[in-house]
Amino acid sequence: MKGIILAGGSATRLYPLSKAISKQIMPVYDKPMIYYPLSTLMLAGLNEVLIISTPRDLPVFKELLGTGENLGMKFEYIVQNKPNGLAEAFLLGADFLKGDSACLILGDNLFYGQGFSSMLKRAAAIEKGACVFGYYVKDPREYGVVEFDTNGNVLSLEEKPRKPKSNYAIPGLYFYDNTVVDKAKNLAPSHRGELEITDLNRLYLQEKSLKVELFGRGFAWLDTGNCDSLLEASNFVETIQKRQGFYISCIEEIAWRNKWITDQQLKKIGNDLQKTAYGKYIQELIVQ
Ligand code: G1P
Repeated sequence: MKGIILAGGSATRLYPLSKAISKQIMPVYDKPMIYYPLSTLMLAGLNEVLIISTPRDLPVFKELLGTGENLGMKFEYIVQNKPNGLAEAFLLGADFLKGDSACLILGDNLFYGQGFSSMLKRAAAIEKGACVFGYYVKDPREYGVVEFDTNGNVLSLEEKPRKPKSNYAIPGLYFYDNTVVDKAKNLAPSHRGELEITDLNRLYLQEKSLKVELFGRGFAWLDTGNCDSLLEASNFVETIQKRQGFYISCIEEIAWRNKWITDQQLKKIGNDLQKTAYGKYIQELIVQ
């Protein structure tokens, strides 16, 4: 399975910040926003990642993340010229995927919680069908919404419904088998002119091969799409990191724990960054 980060889309709610800086490069406490979805793919065990972004922002990501070699990973980049929808990621990513299965994550989604890595590894092991997630929110109208029957079977999926049939929103993290590119090719644009991820998920639902896993209430799925939620996400990361001393989404740490880079490589990264708190944290990992 390969990973795709879609780091484009609607930055208008972050105006005027978004006029000056690419949305997914904005800081969430002490790291660029894109580190958080990238670390989610890494925790799922995926070391080949395609980054899709706007013509303006893609060069910024290239400069930030490079080839991925320093993390024992492989990054590729491709432009999405217009915000034609999340499902377009699979049309743009077809050559990158080369018939492989895929995990798509949105560049502004932040996940944190106990047992997350094992959930991700389970989802990444699917050979047939799709796996998406459900998360209870107070107001799901801005999201894809999933409706269940009393036995927990999925009844319907709706994109940004005015009258949601449940409180379960579908976060921007999707696992698909290798039929995803063909399915995406058959989608028609919605009334807002986009290839909707919810329509893609509905194709799997019709095939009875859509699995929806629920995140419990102890789990954090944070949005960073407007100025309030961006600040709240920063405060959340700061609180956990200061209390525990563990960093959330330190990509070098995850690469090392995945054994994608050696002790020596991690040591070098730590030494190069030793004047920063981030570098000191990395240096201390080796000592432990
Ligand atoms: C997109 C999807 C929606 C999903 C959400 C998660 O919404 O269309 O189904 O619940 O991401 O962040 P958008 O970011 O395009 O408003």
